[in-house]
Amino acid sequence: MGVKHITKNILVTGGCGFIGSHIVDMLVKKGFYVTVIDDLSAKTDLRYLNKYLEEGKADFHQISVQNYDDILSLDSNYDCIFHLAAQPDVKLSVSEPRLDFETNVIGTFNILEYMRVKDIKDLIFASSVGTVYGEPEVHPTPENYPLKPISNYGAAKAAAEMYCSSYTSLYNFNITSLRLGNIFGPRSTHGVIYDFYHKLQRNSKELEILGDGTQTKSYLYIDDTVNAFDITLKNLQEGFNVFNVSSEETTTVIEIAEELTKILDLSDVNFTFTGGKRGWKGDVTYSSADISKLQALGWEVKNPFSVGISKYVEWLKQL
Ligand SMILES: NC(=O)c1ccc[n+]([C@@H]2O[C@H](COP(=O)([O-])OP(=O)(O)OC[C@H]3O[C@@H](n4cnc5c(N)ncnc54)[C@H](O)[C@@H]3O)[C@@H](O)[C@H]2O)c1
Repeated sequence: MGVKHITKNILVTGGCGFIGSHIVDMLVKKGFYVTVIDDLSAKTDLRYLNKYLEEGKADFHQISVQNYDDILSLDSNYDCIFHLAAQPDVKLSVSEPRLDFETNVIGTFNILEYMRVKDIKDLIFASSVGTVYGEPEVHPTPENYPLKPISNYGAAKAAAEMYCSSYTSLYNFNITSLRLGNIFGPRSTHGVIYDFYHKLQRNSKELEILGDGTQTKSYLYIDDTVNAFDITLKNLQEGFNVFNVSSEETTTVIEIAEELTKILDLSDVNFTFTGGKRGWKGDVTYSSADISKLQALGWEVKNPFSVGISKYVEWLKQL
């Protein structure tokens, strides 16, 4: 299988968000010219992009991936697209299924159609490891395990991947889908660590934990995630390829609460539980991914959970 070498212009969708903005940093640092599209619907803004706009290293278009006509108005000179714009919340996908479908399925379809019409061949897609497999019986779960999502968000990511596969085959695209674990770190304003931190700021004596706290997942620090995108770009393979991007370490929700209270030097915090095995409808109770495929490309997890969470808390304290 051949490896492509991308040299110039890159389009990043969702580039004002948590993961997207870190990817833009990495790309600009490596000398790529970056175009960002984002509709800023996640209350994100241009704070991480402004310096690159001023330096002429990037440009920005406030465009929704749901709006195909707006996407078509973009240039066509992109060597690769990083597609991260999405509705990233599992809970919201359950209460607002149409919003999730229109953003995550139609939004991805619109990007693929734009690529077909403008003859752009290469795409890296941000999929999800914890949600596309649902409740797998094999742990750690390899990439070729059947997809059986239990949330609309997981279904949307799986559906988007299926279109990535068909477009690759029909129109000679090269698409790599990175199935991301639970990503955390500076600039993230959602997720369990962020929620716990703010609950403890409000009340340092009590912490409400959704579910029974035994939900077990792998968490990956943002720097290791960005490295995965970097290595994928360097090794962009022909055809449709999928990689799990996660950590071999698994952590329960209770362990997160304990680690956080330790870092914050809080004692006698009373943990209360809303009960039930899941934190919310569609929540996966156990997720652990086989990451050997990406490791074979030279990728490694450099930040264990305890290191990553300490760095993240330092950032949260400065907010
Ligand atoms: N954070 C995680 O743990 C995680 C895990 C697995 C997969 N992912 C995926 O990674 C990607 C980035 O996630 P994130 O955590 O950085 O989320 P985020 O909400 O911080 O970033 C997403 C960005 O996309 C933008 N956006 C949303 N809808 C849009 C639309 N219709 N058109 C254009 N822009 C739109 C938002 O304004 C935001 O800036 C998403 O595709 C998400 O599903 C994230």
